[in-house]
Amino acid sequence: MSDIAALPRAILVTGAAGQLGREVTQYLAGALQGGRIDRLRLLDIAPIGIAGPGIETVQASLAEREVAFASVEGMDAVIHFAGIPTENEWDNLIPANIAASAHLWDAAVAHGVDRILFASSNHAVGMYPVDERIDHTAPPLPDSRYGLTKAFGEELGRLYAHKTPLRSYCMRIGSSFPAVTAVRHLKTYQSFADMVRMVEVGLTADYRFEIVYGLSDIPDGYWDNSNAFRLGYAPADRPEDFVSGALDLFECRWQGGSTATDPLPGITWPPGRSRDSGR
Ligand SMILES: NC(=O)c1ccc[n+]([C@@H]2O[C@H](COP(=O)([O-])OP(=O)(O)OC[C@H]3O[C@@H](n4cnc5c(N)ncnc54)[C@H](O)[C@@H]3O)[C@@H](O)[C@H]2O)c1
Repeated sequence: MSDIAALPRAILVTGAAGQLGREVTQYLAGALQGGRIDRLRLLDIAPIGIAGPGIETVQASLAEREVAFASVEGMDAVIHFAGIPTENEWDNLIPANIAASAHLWDAAVAHGVDRILFASSNHAVGMYPVDERIDHTAPPLPDSRYGLTKAFGEELGRLYAHKTPLRSYCMRIGSSFPAVTAVRHLKTYQSFADMVRMVEVGLTADYRFEIVYGLSDIPDGYWDNSNAFRLGYAPADRPEDFVSGALDLFECRWQGGSTATDPLPGITWPPGRSRDSGR
């Protein structure tokens, strides 16, 4: 990572016990040790299990408004990974993904936080067809309730960038896992190291509101990531180098893959009605 750009001095990572949160926390713990930041606060509803000088941990739910307000106090930047990362019922998604984000943006404004980096998702645009290449100007086209919660977070960031001093950087993350395990990942993969590079850009670049794609070096994928490159993102990894075992061959007509083809959980409609009814 670059040693040149100045990082915000006090950083909160939400969802710090999760897969991506742990990766970014490791990078920021190094920045703390190296004197590039002064304070690192980690929040998760689950036990965090990371400790060290200058590291504060908070085990609580961001769905509680007072938790959101207390957690951003004294922070310059927030990296918001907390939430449910797949399709789910509204009873679970509304507190974890919608209320939590709403509280966090309000809290950040009230406490003078400079910027929020938001873990959005490719599922915010998962209903675009696979043969359409989209860029950061593509409006949300969610493929699931989960994707809709990510579209909500993006639009929250856009609204607050217009009406408040708070900046937002929304990463439409593709598939950020230890390995490439599906054919679809060849179009959507982001290595952990590239994800951390993208976070570093979000922490250091100058912007008010941006959408970028969380994608490794994939020049022919679904997403034109020129906006991320313009801001300074330079992915170093290619998905081919992360392939592990036989690939899941499922391919579908929508960018969101199986999430786009899966039915909405928990609801059905009366016999005789089809998706085309009521035109
Ligand atoms: N990994 C990917 O490929 C990918 C792709 C697109 C988007 N994302 C998004 O990135 C973020 C991190 O993904 P991940 O793969 O690390 O998922 P993860 O499930 O490993 O991490 C999410 C963390 O959020 C925490 N959390 C959930 N609800 C919470 C609440 N109410 N308050 C506080 N913490 C709460 C969980 O305990 C968990 O540790 C998620 O928001 C996910 O939607 C990930």
